[in-house]
Amino acid sequence: RILILDFGSQVTQLIARRVRESGVYCEIWPFSTEPDRIRTFHPRGIILSGGPASVTETGSPRAPEAAFALGVPVLGICYGQQTMCAQLGGEVAGSDHREFGRAHLDITEDCGLFRGVWSRGGREQVWMSHGDRVVSLPPGFRAVAVSEGAPFAAIADERRRLYGVQFHPEVVHTPHGAQLLRNFTHDVCGCAGGWTMQGFREMEIARIRAQVGEGRVICGLSGGVDSSVAAVLIHEAIGEQLTCIFVDHGLLRAGEADEVVATFRDRFNIKLIHRDASALFLDALEGVSDPEIKRKTIGRLFIEVFDEEARKLGGAEFLAQGTLYPDVIESVSFTGGPSVTIKSHHNVGGLPDKMHMQLVEPLRELFKDEVRALGRTLGIPEHIVGRHPFPGPGLAIRIPGTFTAASLDILRRADAIFLEEIRAAGLYDAIWQAFAVLLPVRSVGVMGDGRTYDQACALRAVTSTDGMTADIYPFDMAFLSRVSGRIVNEVRGINRVTYDITGKPPGTIEWE
Ligand code: XMP
Repeated sequence: RILILDFGSQVTQLIARRVRESGVYCEIWPFSTEPDRIRTFHPRGIILSGGPASVTETGSPRAPEAAFALGVPVLGICYGQQTMCAQLGGEVAGSDHREFGRAHLDITEDCGLFRGVWSRGGREQVWMSHGDRVVSLPPGFRAVAVSEGAPFAAIADERRRLYGVQFHPEVVHTPHGAQLLRNFTHDVCGCAGGWTMQGFREMEIARIRAQVGEGRVICGLSGGVDSSVAAVLIHEAIGEQLTCIFVDHGLLRAGEADEVVATFRDRFNIKLIHRDASALFLDALEGVSDPEIKRKTIGRLFIEVFDEEARKLGGAEFLAQGTLYPDVIESVSFTGGPSVTIKSHHNVGGLPDKMHMQLVEPLRELFKDEVRALGRTLGIPEHIVGRHPFPGPGLAIRIPGTFTAASLDILRRADAIFLEEIRAAGLYDAIWQAFAVLLPVRSVGVMGDGRTYDQACALRAVTSTDGMTADIYPFDMAFLSRVSGRIVNEVRGINRVTYDITGKPPGTIEWE
């Protein structure tokens, strides 16, 4: 396995994903990790990530000496390359010439990192983002590629198996980057590449059995990807010892609650408690218009109802959660100088703190796309594993202001038409999230010979890789007018449809 030491780059997680795609297990730890912890991890190789700091500033982060003392191969990327050079006797300087974006690399030497991908004399496209650059190499290193802004764009000391690149092989804008990382993990580090979801499934099932023994596990099921995959995996491990609790808050999309029951109870034979708490939630939310109060109310009720159902069951010592790897990575942040913050590990409503149960988190080493792949090996239907993200508070935050059972129903029907048309056009998988928002606005319209005075709805569809930033999906007009025509004709109560063309930032994905 490979250890990635993080210097705070925004794309460190991409390094991990590329390494895992090459069939090699890896973890991301902060650059400041204790040497002993690094040694006991027994990495086959170490990757030093990029980062926002400057090696030329005093007090900027350095790789732990253990990274070089272990004698395993090291690959430094961008800041990682610079600090490796600075620490091993080379020199780094600031530069007036900032390279940002696409750049060309001239390959001047063959090396292990390039084997079978790039060869001497070639000109290759890469993605750069740096101000500082290496100006003199540590003893033992030679330059193997140059770019306009970086005379040492790629360097190697093949005897000690140390490599550095100024560009970012982990991003898709470096077309052969994934192969270079594969060369590093397979050829240079000698990893076999046996990390597959099938292998993970077997290993994790054994681990769950060992942890749980004869104990009983309860799992909150929402119908989303993570809790679904966690539930099916745990069920495969311990069968009847697992009970799932599905708290139905009545804020799901059309048909979703029935689908959860049909899939997990009927198809997978999982013991499932379906608690229809929609009246309770609707009551508590009556007249509430502030988005934060909506969220808090829903979160509180969710825990209460879940807790109540869990008590009725009695005797379960374990609580299963679909926590993913991005939630548990100890992140490095650089607000006002290097500082290490640990992300909170909370999931839906912070269940565990209150319940004094041991956690079973079988997905805590996986990225979202790995969870989907695992779900497919477990036979979970595509409409669940490939599903768009859906917020915990559900449709409550898709009707700005106050709402009622009737307005939820109107929204559900408009949303279902939009999603049905998106699926029919084959666009579902190209979109990160798509949904309708019911606006608290009435406008005048004309239908047949009559005047209407009904609500407007907004359609929202975005592409994104992590939900942190998003671009609007560029539908063609014919598609949008077809959806608009259907909604206005088929959904009583809506007489006007708009398409939200705001990116994130400055907009958020949801309207509340
Ligand atoms: P925003 O609206 O902040 O959304 O751009 C980013 C992503 O987070 C989802 N989201 C939520 N998920 N509880 C959730 O579980 C929430 O309160 C919540 N608010 C937003 C949103 O759907 C998008 O995927």
